[in-house]
Amino acid sequence: GDAPHVEKQPWSFAGPFGQFDKAQLQRGFQVYQEVCSSCHGLSLVAFRNLAEEGGPGFSVDEVKALAAEYSIVDGPDDEGEMFEREGKPFDKFPSPFPNEQAARASNNGAYPPDLSLMAKARAVTRGFPWFVLDIATQYQENGPDYLYGLLTGYHEAPEGVEVPEGQYYNTGFIAGKTLAMAPPLSDELVEYSDGSPMTTDQYARDVSAFLMWAAEPHLEARKRIGFGVMAFLILFASLLYFTKRKIWSNVD
Ligand code: HEM
Repeated sequence: GDAPHVEKQPWSFAGPFGQFDKAQLQRGFQVYQEVCSSCHGLSLVAFRNLAEEGGPGFSVDEVKALAAEYSIVDGPDDEGEMFEREGKPFDKFPSPFPNEQAARASNNGAYPPDLSLMAKARAVTRGFPWFVLDIATQYQENGPDYLYGLLTGYHEAPEGVEVPEGQYYNTGFIAGKTLAMAPPLSDELVEYSDGSPMTTDQYARDVSAFLMWAAEPHLEARKRIGFGVMAFLILFASLLYFTKRKIWSNVD
């Protein structure tokens, strides 16, 4: 149909040996926290996940301090009442709105979807014959490619394209020419402390990488295991081959 052209980006986690760049995941988390989290939930990610192997690599103490900045609705207590308490590492990220109606009410009727699995949900498969190539090369970065394309896809609408009230023209959006999300990023919006460029482009890359980790937290372990499996299969296949040669060597 009318799917946008999604341009491939150079990700540190691409390819059979790709790994997440911890500093990038930390910056991407900062972008999520300071910008996206005012509208989008991350309800499948727990604070403690940020300190787990293969992720952004925050320390346990940093995660405790981070969780404590949040207020979590818990309960019911002995009187059957819900109550608020300080966040703990095992809590999931609280959603910005209590429910979908409240979310729509604050966003002109549009619903900002939860971002936990967005990098997977928007991993658009290419048509024949390209998807064959993607499978053969284990290409799985379409999700973050899409997110980057969306976040950097806001442009002036071309002559003759009608942009309805409350909608924004975007060449990266999957479901039309316009969407209800105003451009969330702009240069200098988020203050980086590691000297990385404070540009829309860099923010978009970083938060897309972070959302890939959120959707695929075991990517690094999976690649390691996959490599071990391939190495074993090659070894085992050659062992079988030489065994066969030996067993059949005196048959003529
Ligand atoms: C939709 C990401 C910030 C409001 C979306 C979608 C993504 C996304 C991936 C889904 C697009 C699709 O369906 O393909 C982000 C990221 C942000 C961010 C990474 C931070 C950098 C915000 C903010 C707001 C917002 C701050 C509110 C002020 C919305 C709304 C939609 C949406 C209302 C639904 C749009 C529609 O379906 O027409 N966002 N967002 N987003 N976002 Fe955001």
